[in-house]
Amino acid sequence: MERVVISVGGSVLIPEKNDSEYILALADVLKRCGKTVDIAVVCGGGRISRYYAGIGRSLGGTEHQLDELGIAITRVNAGLLSIALGDSSAGIAANPKECAEMAGRGRISLMGGTEPGHTTDAVAAMVAREMGADRIINASNVDAVYSEDPRENPDAERYSEMPISRLKEIVYDEHSACKSCVFDPLGVNICTEDCRDIFMVNGRDLGELENAIMGRPIKGTKVSGR
Ligand code: UTP
Repeated sequence: MERVVISVGGSVLIPEKNDSEYILALADVLKRCGKTVDIAVVCGGGRISRYYAGIGRSLGGTEHQLDELGIAITRVNAGLLSIALGDSSAGIAANPKECAEMAGRGRISLMGGTEPGHTTDAVAAMVAREMGADRIINASNVDAVYSEDPRENPDAERYSEMPISRLKEIVYDEHSACKSCVFDPLGVNICTEDCRDIFMVNGRDLGELENAIMGRPIKGTKVSGR
């Protein structure tokens, strides 16, 4: 059986408007795919975690404290997906090893963040390492990897395929890791070491997400770990 880890952006799960229909439809896709693929899902915090971090910052919180707030929200989001999955949820894991062990037998394991200093993309890379996953799916609200932010530069180049070394150039420079990246720089480093593929897809397009989980061709970007 193939093994897949999905990093779902918080803003995909919880957009501006309450969209429980989407969470239920996502759960249906996961249940269907979970019959033939072992799946772990790491949920992000997105807009809601940034909202709390903003308030925490105004109160004089440290970066460490703001990260802790963000982690709490990622776990709340994993809780929502767990409710939608019902009996197909294997529960919310405390750490990547547990998450890897809980996935399978038709049940989807879930988790949120772990510790300050990175995002849930990096956690997904850690779970994938524990699981020996065939690929990571990054389900965000952007449909592919671009040379620059396409909202800022409409002429940015869109990639359908790239080696992970190119993704590393995009997300990381020698001075600083970027704040809101297409994929967490630590996650890119882990996937580089593990030679693991990352499929970058629009998570709101559930047909596309299902294709990525099943290893079929996608409209997004296939980042090759080798
Ligand atoms: P996210 O993974 O949602 O971060 O975690 P993000 O920056 O919104 O990620 P993308 O853009 O969807 O990929 C929300 C926040 O929670 C904290 C960080 O502050 C992060 O920005 N966090 C999350 C951690 O400190 N550690 C974790 O393991 C996960």
